[in-house]
Amino acid sequence: MIELSNIEKRFGEAVILKDISIRIPEGSVTALVGPSGGGKSTLLRCINLLEIPTSGAIRLGEETLSFAPDKRTSWQAIQKIRRQTGMVFQNFQLFPHQTAIENVMEGLVTVLKWPREKARERASELLTKVGMSHKTDAWPSTLSGGQQQRVAIARALAPSPRVLLCDEPTSALDPELSAEVVDVLGRLAREGTTMVMATHDLRLASKIANDVVFLEAGSVVETGSARAIFNAPERERTKRFISTINAAHTYDI
Ligand SMILES: Nc1ncnc2c1ncn2[C@@H]1O[C@H](COP(=O)(O)OP(=O)(O)OP(=O)(O)O)[C@@H](O)[C@H]1O
Ligand SMILES: [Mg+2]
Repeated sequence: MIELSNIEKRFGEAVILKDISIRIPEGSVTALVGPSGGGKSTLLRCINLLEIPTSGAIRLGEETLSFAPDKRTSWQAIQKIRRQTGMVFQNFQLFPHQTAIENVMEGLVTVLKWPREKARERASELLTKVGMSHKTDAWPSTLSGGQQQRVAIARALAPSPRVLLCDEPTSALDPELSAEVVDVLGRLAREGTTMVMATHDLRLASKIANDVVFLEAGSVVETGSARAIFNAPERERTKRFISTINAAHTYDI
């Protein structure tokens, strides 16, 4: 279980996240949707503490950490939370000077101090899981965007994080390559991987997510099951957002 309680994030005077409280059950997929600039990426970055919330609290499994404007968060406390998360970015961010399998092994060897052989075995299993076993020794620059993203997903999963955080995992990809990545994420979801995903791709969200959080201007406008939010949102604002994306289409979930 992940629980965010009353999270606020300020950059200087600007309040970017306002009193965000959400619960993410283990084994579920939560999609963060909403207009650009609403705070989706910032919220993801607060979950793995790439950004430190100004106030509020985060619970991830057994670890709870609370924040206050004049309270310094220790590096050890940050690591305890961050190590339970894996992050996938829009632009993949693979290490260019390492092969696919070396990218996946990297964190296991350097951070977790696994022996290379054991790390290689785990990395090899993960590359198979994301359908990339045929590109084990390929350099990132020789892979398509969809292939790079699948390697990046394997890398994020390598240390068995409690939650996989994805920031626009398909938005740099054309529809065909995007479909490859959606397939992999869908499979992970069915296997019970806990995921929080910021996305503009409402089809991806409707296909994979159990729950949807609609964020605008740093506040939660509406939360609910994917079915409820996509087919029968309660708030006017949510209705308008869903309908602008695809006026005629009823999401098939
Ligand atoms: N480091 C920062 N310093 C100051 N303001 C920031 C910083 N990072 C983000 N912001 C501001 O926070 C707001 C939310 O940004 P964020 O990137 O979280 O939105 P988003 O919902 O992910 O948008 P998009 O859909 O375009 O990815 C924006 O107004 C942005 O300018
Ligand atoms: Mg974003």
